[in-house]
Amino acid sequence: MLLNLGYVKVDEKGRAIPITYLLWDKVPLFLNQEIVWNYSAGVACKNYLSPRNEKILWYVKDEKNYTFNLDSIRDKNVKYPNSRRHGKLRVNTLGKNPSDVWEIAKVTTGKNRSSTERTPHPCQFPIDLINRLILGFTNEEDVILDPFMGSGTTFESALRNNRFCVGFEILPEYCEIAKKRIQLLQREVQTVGTQLELEYISNESV
Ligand SMILES: C[S@@+](CC[C@H](N)C(=O)[O-])C[C@H]1O[C@@H](n2cnc3c(N)ncnc32)[C@H](O)[C@@H]1O
Repeated sequence: MLLNLGYVKVDEKGRAIPITYLLWDKVPLFLNQEIVWNYSAGVACKNYLSPRNEKILWYVKDEKNYTFNLDSIRDKNVKYPNSRRHGKLRVNTLGKNPSDVWEIAKVTTGKNRSSTERTPHPCQFPIDLINRLILGFTNEEDVILDPFMGSGTTFESALRNNRFCVGFEILPEYCEIAKKRIQLLQREVQTVGTQLELEYISNESV
């Protein structure tokens, strides 16, 4: 399970406490690691440091046996790719371990700086972030559940990476955004000959 939550002010205690710090032991799973997502843009603050990170907690059922596909998420940006010792390459040719701090740009809005993946959803996650989570911590043909689907980034990443996906979203207008996004993807893959199956269940039909 991958848990991402925001920050909360706790009166007389702290301005912005990561909610994950308050809830980390309320989950009946083993907390394997905290990932820090570092993004480059955001509000500029005057009286304290401008926030540029969110936490993602990586939980597993069994601390000795869990999915971790390191080779699928290696960072190709290696500083000395030809470094050798006794004539042997010292670095993994697939790239380096991406570490627990991930620098991935936020989805931006704005006239000249809007991300190409931008939908009208106000807190859309970058697909590069979700791709890394899905590739690293799930296997092909796994079923991924996103109970807070928003614009459907998890859905798109799951389908692109040969996983199944089930998503919940409370607001019908966001369901529509996700639905359109998946339909676009469906059209894209149909042109290369693959058929994606999509079932959309609205509140009325449940
Ligand atoms: C941070 S956004 C998710 C954004 C998403 N990862 C994306 O890339 O677009 C959280 C979403 O959870 C939805 N949400 C909040 N409470 C919910 C609930 N109880 N059940 C289902 N969805 C909920 C909100 O409407 C919002 O769209």
